[in-house]
Amino acid sequence: MRLDQNQLNELNEEYSNKSPEDVLKWTLDNLHPNVALASSFGAEDAVLIDMLAKINPEARIFTLDTGRLNQETYDVMDEVKLKYKVNLEVMFPNQVEVQDMVRKHGMNLFYRSQENRKLCCGIRKVHPLTSMLSTLDGWITGIRGDQTQNRSDANKFEIDHQFGGILKANPIIDWIWDQLWDYIKTNNVPYNKLHDVGYPSIGCEPCTRAIKPGEDLRAGRWWWENESDKECGLHMDHSQESANLK
Ligand code: ADX
Ligand code: SF4
Repeated sequence: MRLDQNQLNELNEEYSNKSPEDVLKWTLDNLHPNVALASSFGAEDAVLIDMLAKINPEARIFTLDTGRLNQETYDVMDEVKLKYKVNLEVMFPNQVEVQDMVRKHGMNLFYRSQENRKLCCGIRKVHPLTSMLSTLDGWITGIRGDQTQNRSDANKFEIDHQFGGILKANPIIDWIWDQLWDYIKTNNVPYNKLHDVGYPSIGCEPCTRAIKPGEDLRAGRWWWENESDKECGLHMDHSQESANLK
């Protein structure tokens, strides 16, 4: 399947008022089994897992285990596996890359410079994601437009040039925080318990903290860095052009 710029625009136009479930259905109908949800097990992904499991229990879900996640994140992973009987595809970083990085820069390199932080995110997240996405024709993410400036430009359907031009579906791009929690409570969705103690956004344990009332939802991510638009490198490209979907 090949989508050019016009078709992508038409698709986004057609789905502009449709539900996340409709976006998921289109994506699965056209790309399953060569498409998977990327889940970090934050509130956004918890919602998407519940929706996906109701549409097709065989829909694929993968997670990038950086080796530095919180126990609460591992807890919800197991809870999800048990409740939905999904086959969670856990991706790990390359052992040699991690070894070399840690031997050279230490365990807590990320606090010392942004260059080090990006090196660690690259090895522990971006490289495993790249290798997973190289096997797929599309991926589904839980990004939302109000999370970062970069994400406010994203659409429900995109072509991901960062990862070889595959389709990127962002079914809840236009959802706000309260919609997530209405869905979670109404549908009794298992969620990461860090959300109950002040973590709206959850990444790796050493790089995420709770936020204070009034702080930005992503203020707890890499909190020692000053940049307002913090990204770890998974979601850098939101341009829309043609792509090849095999
Ligand atoms: S990040 O780039 O800053 O780390 P964020 O935590 O906001 O991303 O999550 C946005 C989306 O990226 C998630 O909804 C999920 O689709 C994907 N994602 C982020 N981290 C992971 C992970 N560890 N494993 C799988 N997908 C992830
Ligand atoms: Fe490394 Fe922190 Fe990035 Fe996790 S969030 S991959 S620990 S720098």
